[in-house]
Amino acid sequence: MYKIKNHPVDPDYAKDANITEQQYQAWYKESLEQPDQFWAARAKQFLDWSKPWSSVNEYNFAKGETTWFKDGKLNACYNCIDRHLEKRGNQVAIIWEGDDPSEDLSITYRQLYEQVGRLSNALLAQGVKKGDRVCLYMPMIPEAAYAMLACARIGAVHSVVFGGFSPESLKDRILDSDCQVLITADEGLRGGRSIALKENADKALAHCPDVRCCLVVKRTGAEIGWNNSRDVWYHDAVADMSPDCPAQEMDSEDPMFILYTSGSTGKPKGVMHTTAGYMLGSAMTHRYILDYREGDIFWCTADVGWITGHSYIVYGPLANGATTLMFEGVPTYPDASRCWQVVDKHKVNTFYTAPTAIRALMSQGNEPVKKFSRASLRLLGTVGEPINPEAWEWYYNVVGETRCPVVDTWWQTETGSIMIAPMPGAHTLKPGSATVPFFGIEPALVDNDGNELQGACEGNLVIKRSWPSQIRSVYGDHQRMIDTYFSTYPDTYFTGDGARRDEDGYYWITGRVDDVLNVSGHRMGTAEIESALVLHDAVAEAAVVGYPHDIKGQGVYAYVTLMAGIQPSEALRKELLDAVSKEIGAIAKPDLIQWAPGLPKTRSGKIMRRILRKIAANELDTLGDTSTLADPAVVNELIDNRANR
Ligand code: WTA
Repeated sequence: MYKIKNHPVDPDYAKDANITEQQYQAWYKESLEQPDQFWAARAKQFLDWSKPWSSVNEYNFAKGETTWFKDGKLNACYNCIDRHLEKRGNQVAIIWEGDDPSEDLSITYRQLYEQVGRLSNALLAQGVKKGDRVCLYMPMIPEAAYAMLACARIGAVHSVVFGGFSPESLKDRILDSDCQVLITADEGLRGGRSIALKENADKALAHCPDVRCCLVVKRTGAEIGWNNSRDVWYHDAVADMSPDCPAQEMDSEDPMFILYTSGSTGKPKGVMHTTAGYMLGSAMTHRYILDYREGDIFWCTADVGWITGHSYIVYGPLANGATTLMFEGVPTYPDASRCWQVVDKHKVNTFYTAPTAIRALMSQGNEPVKKFSRASLRLLGTVGEPINPEAWEWYYNVVGETRCPVVDTWWQTETGSIMIAPMPGAHTLKPGSATVPFFGIEPALVDNDGNELQGACEGNLVIKRSWPSQIRSVYGDHQRMIDTYFSTYPDTYFTGDGARRDEDGYYWITGRVDDVLNVSGHRMGTAEIESALVLHDAVAEAAVVGYPHDIKGQGVYAYVTLMAGIQPSEALRKELLDAVSKEIGAIAKPDLIQWAPGLPKTRSGKIMRRILRKIAANELDTLGDTSTLADPAVVNELIDNRANR
């Protein structure tokens, strides 16, 4: 077992930190004991309002109802741009670093205001109204941020779909939230390779008759298909528009965006966030956990297609008037030094990434890191999946040279902003632990019957009260939100994660306890992948589980039973991988496929995934009781056939 070493707060770091330990204790106590007072003060401090609220918070988990800052009026885009203009119009808001190291751009707050204003006017001219949904299928270029902010400015609800998703996935998401406008680019560029976004969009839109307008950013200039009655070049659409566009006054609880995420069952859900609470959560956590200080250059490496990109590339940093870095490429292109080259080039102070990237870079050794000074770095962060202590220590010792605290931040698409994490000037760090709850967050661990566990223990992680940036609904299916998050354990929000709490009250996230996988920090449902596999004519049945993977954290392991008479072959294996790419996207492709003549099932026909997980992980001595299976012999067959995966 790896020996975990604690890292007490470095006094040198702490002297300028936003939060000290005493402050954390006092504020945390106040946030639970006098929540209205606590949150009202923060809402005034962090956001500009055009009308005050009438009540701070009301909620009823059983009904899936929560309101924060009821009747308050504000605009998210105004809070990210306009209010900063007077003081920091000429400060850089977005540094864009291209896939090609010779390409970059600096966009000041004034320029951001103008770009967003023009696009807002262009969207209005296309007939987009407050409350309408607009789909974004974008590469990591400044226009992605402009588009999100323009939607927020005019009160449209954006739904960003990650550029790595397939046409099929894009289509499903467009239809589910009834988007009538799509914003995309001719192509994306990542790691020197192009991604055919417009071609994918065309395939998706062939099945979306209600999409009346597709705005296309010219990124690479590639030849693309064109539909004259629907497609408009982005640059043409904004060309004659005024840079000034009034920000729509929004209610605190007006929907701000939808973001699809995977659960254990069915199709991905459109997680809906509303305006005030989301903005407050992302801005406050950016300031206190990512310890933002005036003048900092902040780099979050996520894609805007994920919640991390929403909260920590765009909304949190811009609400705080920060300079946020947006990177088009990947950490290993042109080589494994890229991140550190970019850190030096732009004097990055805070670097926030996923454990999978850290492990991938660690596997390349220390040389690529040492090639650059990294002298500007002050703080490091991780998000998206559990980080193993070895990777944590490498990040801390090699990348940060023991000078930069590492904040391991646990949260979810549904939580909107960071929930459990250390504050770098306040908490002793324990590698692998997400540490302690943020202000106002009341976590608890419960057993499978919902009994709350006390002290040091391990159980299912729930949250006992509402917080500002919490999910408000599943788009078009409010009951599904109640069923998924608020019904498993009454009166609590169920996270789907397991966790351990140690004697110091620190939380250690152990991973999903449901059928959700986390592959390279990307969330996907086993059910989605299974559905994609069984679409193939040759497949009778499929069961997908996760297994430990050195770099990705989890890999996708698929057990596939073929139709009677069909023989497994390498060609078929490839067809199945392609089928998953086509249905979902390349990120969901199984790492291993095992041909399974039968699957372990209970007598009532339920697949025993527990056993499949153990076989996938080669944990054969802890298989547990197999006597309740309809046909226990299947298990040995699967064990013996592992060589065929
Ligand atoms: C996992 C990403 C351990 C967890 C922000 C959660 C983590 C899921 C951590 C949400 C962490 C996220 N330590 N596990 N620091 N952060 N997770 O919705 O299983 O893409 O439920 O949001 O990622 O993934 P999502």
